[in-house]
Amino acid sequence: MGYFKKIAQKSEIAEGKVKSIETKFIRIGLVNLGGEIFAFEDLCTHDGEIISGGKLEGDVITCPRHFAKFNVRDGKVLCMPATSPLPTLKVRVAGEDVEVELED
Ligand code: FES
Repeated sequence: MGYFKKIAQKSEIAEGKVKSIETKFIRIGLVNLGGEIFAFEDLCTHDGEIISGGKLEGDVITCPRHFAKFNVRDGKVLCMPATSPLPTLKVRVAGEDVEVELED
């Protein structure tokens, strides 16, 4: 069973940028798309690059290493060389608090 953990304040997540948060077990990328927050595992599925260092254009992020592209809403691969989707996390916003669902 997963559980929700507060990892950021909504005001810290600017539109057009990725906020990267390192928790004990996982590095998480957060984006703000028109006021809606999305979260994904901040590691490229191609070769483990920290993907938040790449370019975010709308809802598409490009890995800075070999330029795979992913949709940050659902993690879908849009461009090789990655073939596996970026794992996404469920987000819950409670007032200013941004919580993501982590696994036990
Ligand atoms: S590590 Fe991201 S595309 Fe290769």
